Amino acid sequence: DTYVIIMAGGVGTRFWPFSRTDFPKQFHDVLGTGRTLLQQTVDRFDGVCPIENIYIVTSQEYKELIKQQIPELTDDQILLEPHRRNTAPCIAYACYKIAARNPNANVVVAPADHIILKEEVFKDTIKVALGATRNEDILITLGIQPTRPDTGYGYIQYIPDKLTVKKVKSFTEKPHLELALQFLDSGDFVWNAGIFVWNVNAFKKALAQFQPDIAEIFQGGVEHYYLDSEDSFIQRAYQHCGSISIDNGIMEKAENVHVVLASFGWSDLGTWKSMYEVSEKDENLNVTDGNMILHNTTNSIIKTPKDKLVVVNGLDGFIVAEFDGVLLICKKDDEQKVKEFVAQAKELD
Ligand code: GDD
Ligand code: MG
Repeated sequence: DTYVIIMAGGVGTRFWPFSRTDFPKQFHDVLGTGRTLLQQTVDRFDGVCPIENIYIVTSQEYKELIKQQIPELTDDQILLEPHRRNTAPCIAYACYKIAARNPNANVVVAPADHIILKEEVFKDTIKVALGATRNEDILITLGIQPTRPDTGYGYIQYIPDKLTVKKVKSFTEKPHLELALQFLDSGDFVWNAGIFVWNVNAFKKALAQFQPDIAEIFQGGVEHYYLDSEDSFIQRAYQHCGSISIDNGIMEKAENVHVVLASFGWSDLGTWKSMYEVSEKDENLNVTDGNMILHNTTNSIIKTPKDKLVVVNGLDGFIVAEFDGVLLICKKDDEQKVKEFVAQAKELD
């Protein structure tokens, strides 16, 4: 059977002030489609597996947001983490829980904050990967054709044969710029989409081999799960668990990693610019959402509360974004500074 794990516990700081610790971007309707990124992620798996096989892993503080946005899920399908420990423990929690329900489960792991424009192509790609992991203990990731030397992604080098499921030679998480440029030049690298497919046994083996401490914690949990409550077990587990991403913790190290090349209109929406790239623009190439009068304004993102009239004159290439008491006005090209602004704003808090 197929199960889906949606990771929805990140805070997405580069997308500030929209993405906030108490309301991260996955809970926003970023593109103005009427569905939030999390809701779109759940919708995307319609037809891949039944809704009762979907699990969302998130921080305890987002429990109510998840219940409001995805009322179809039972409490048992919302896995609450008491602390942020990055994605390796998040996936371990869910995979062990699913394995207790079905020891041969085939799993798709997906972030809650991406957009995918071509849903049918996405489903076909996922089905190819699921077909390969059903009987083989391999770790599959989806690869996206890179368009720029972005240092915010993982880079995958694959063996360029004709197979749809290609063997991976190397996986490099978030390289520095020179390395990213080399990767881009060489041609046989793709970006890691951050969407993974495997059966729970393959995952457990990889975890035991490369993150034995985490494996031990969760393995023990399954053995004693029902003696104790899941809640108190998780409280204790997360106290002892180290913090590491799945990319650094397993994907860079494992030798049975494979990639399925994908082109389904993917965007990670990590930053304002990536949101700008995929959004609909007006005749002056502005992306707007709100109540506004624009003069002489071009190539900008203006996203402001509907109950405030905003008048802008003479901006080119700017971000003007207001949410919940914070207004950001920043050159689009300076968007990498947003992380610094968040840190400074926290100090004022
Ligand atoms: N439950 C839970 N707990 N979820 C988390 C946690 C956590 O501690 N930390 C992050 N997440 C969620 C985020 O909300 C997001 O949906 C997903 O896990 C990935 O985390 P990010 O923090 O967004 O990772 P990234 O974007 O820096 O890098 C990953 O994604 C890239 C593609 O977007 C890596 O997999 C890269 O290799 C990849 O290229
Ligand atoms: Mg991300």
